[in-house]
Amino acid sequence: MSHAEADHDTRRSRQWLAGEARGAGVDRDQLLELGAAMAALTAAAAEREPVALASAPVGVDPGTPIAKPLPPELLRPLDTNAEMHWAALAGQGYVVPNDRFFVRNHTVTPRLDADTWRLRLFGTGLRDAPTRDTPVEFSLDELRGLPAEESDALLECAGNGRRFFAEQQGEPAPGVAWGLGGVGVARWRGVRLGTVLRLAGLRDDAVDVMPEGLDPDYVTGGINLGRVRRPLPIAKALDDVLLAYEMNGEPLPADHGFPVRVVVPGWIGISSIKWVGPVEVSATPLFSPWNTRFYRMFGPGHPGEGTVLETQPVKSAFELAWDARVPAGAEVLLHGRSWSGNGPIERVEVDTGDGWRPADLVAADRGGAWQRWTARWRPPAPGRFTLRARATDTTGAAQPDRATANTLAYLFDAVVHHPVTAH
Ligand code: MTE
Repeated sequence: MSHAEADHDTRRSRQWLAGEARGAGVDRDQLLELGAAMAALTAAAAEREPVALASAPVGVDPGTPIAKPLPPELLRPLDTNAEMHWAALAGQGYVVPNDRFFVRNHTVTPRLDADTWRLRLFGTGLRDAPTRDTPVEFSLDELRGLPAEESDALLECAGNGRRFFAEQQGEPAPGVAWGLGGVGVARWRGVRLGTVLRLAGLRDDAVDVMPEGLDPDYVTGGINLGRVRRPLPIAKALDDVLLAYEMNGEPLPADHGFPVRVVVPGWIGISSIKWVGPVEVSATPLFSPWNTRFYRMFGPGHPGEGTVLETQPVKSAFELAWDARVPAGAEVLLHGRSWSGNGPIERVEVDTGDGWRPADLVAADRGGAWQRWTARWRPPAPGRFTLRARATDTTGAAQPDRATANTLAYLFDAVVHHPVTAH
C-alpha cells in the first residue's frame, strides 16, 4: 500500500465524508459545521483567531507560549510561533542550531515531567490494549533502552512563505504571516515508531496510527478540537517515522516536544506531533481536524470539502537579512539553501539583476534534506537590488514566478524577491 501523504489523505477524507472514519473525540457534524463557518470566514479569521485556551490536560502545567529566549537577531515572534531569521543561518553548518530553530505552537509549550511522562499506546490495532484506559506504556528510559537511530530530517510548516502571497502577488492571505523562516533541518535521535508498535502488540489488521500532543486542547471557531493530532497510515508508521528524544545532540528542547516527539520525514510539519502522549493504533480508519479541515486546499478550483495538501513544493532562501546592506563594488559570496518535499535538489540558479546563472552546490549535501549553495556577486554601484534564487528538484519540479492562491494560503513556492541595498 502506498504511504504517500497525499494518497492517504485523499482516501481518509473520502471515508470521513462518508462517515466511515472515526475522529477520536471530535464529532463529524461539528467539524462539518466548522467547515461551513470557515468557508464563510476568511482564512484570516479562521487561522488567526486569538488563541483561546481550553483547560490544560490534568497534571499538565500550561507553561508559557514559547520557553526559549527569542533574541531578535535569531527569531521573529509571530503570535504563538516564532520564525527563524535566515541571516541567522549564515556561517552555520548543515543543521539549524536549537536556539534558532523555528517554533510552531497551536497553543503553548507545556512543561512535562520526564520522570512521570509515559508513551501510552492503545486501540483496536493492538492485541491487548483496546481502549484508552488500558494502554501499553513506555517510560522515557525504556524508549532510550531500545535500538536508537539518527536521521537528518527537514520540518516545514505548510504555511511557510505565506506572507509573500500578499507582498509579492497582491493576494492578501491573512493567517500566521510566515516569511521563509518556518523551516529547518535537525539531526533527530530516537527509536523507530515501528519498533515500539511491534513491542506494543501490533495486529496485522491495524490501518492507522494517531499520535496526540500533551499541549492544551486547540479551540477555534468556538469549537474545542481537542489535542493536536493527525493520523498516519500504518505503512508510513512502520517505515521511517521516529519517536525522537534528542535534537542536534541535546535532549529535545521544551519547545520542540520534550520529552518525546514524532518526526515524520517528508510529510508536512503538522504530522510531526510534539509532546506525544497517547498514540491510538486503529484497525479502522481515523481522521482528525488536522487532515480534514486544516492543512487542506480550499478556494477557487477546489471542491467545498477542499483537496488534499500535496507534498511541500520547491523553495529557496538566501542566508541574508531582508533589506541587507552590502558594499558596492566589492565581491560578496551569497549563501543560500533550497529544498523540496519531492526529494533532493538537482539545480539552483541565482539572478542578481542581470539574468539567471547557476549557483554552486555544496557537494556534501547532494541527496540530503536540503541543499546549500553559493553564488558570487559584485554589486556594480550603490543602489537597491533584488536577489532571486530558484531551484529544481530531481523530479523536475521547479519554482514558478507565481504561486497558486488558496484560501488558507499554503504551499507558497514562487521565486521570492529579496531586496538588498549596496552602499
Ligand atoms: N504538535 C503539537 N502537539 N502541537 C503543535 O502545535 N505543531 C505542528 C507540529 N507538531 C504542533 C505539533 C506544526 S504545525 C509544525 S510545523 C511542527 O510541529 C513544528 O515543529 P517545531 O515547533 O519543533 O519547529
